[in-house]
Amino acid sequence: MTTTVNISPTSPLGVAEHTLFVCKTCASTWQDGKRLGESGGQKLLHQLQQLAQDWDLRDQFPIQEVECMSACNRSCVVAFSAKGKLTYLFGDLAVDDSASAVLECASQYYAKADGLLPWSERPEALKKGILAKIPSLS
Ligand code: FES
Repeated sequence: MTTTVNISPTSPLGVAEHTLFVCKTCASTWQDGKRLGESGGQKLLHQLQQLAQDWDLRDQFPIQEVECMSACNRSCVVAFSAKGKLTYLFGDLAVDDSASAVLECASQYYAKADGLLPWSERPEALKKGILAKIPSLS
């Protein structure tokens, strides 16, 4: 199940122009096939949702929770995606110390026409954990 937190401008096809994906399953503790308590990913998601209330891009860059982005051994994991831009997947994000850096990096991503995020310009928390940089379709 996925939930879009913010309402955002959409393309004529109804697709959000920018999306911040957040894995809510990362850093879970499991017992007998059931998750115990709140996962690290859920904590990070809630922190991002809280911070995003005062983010100037909250309406342009919705946060969408996802079950998994297949980088489970590199939790916590987020991704930036937008039409006509590179897609980035970041991992190794600390549960309690990454939310502001993620939004800062998302703002940088938003400002670039191609979405390029050079290492030297990224916030410290997103310098090491890059897992994928995928070309745009256009
Ligand atoms: S559990 Fe988060 S990427 Fe798989």
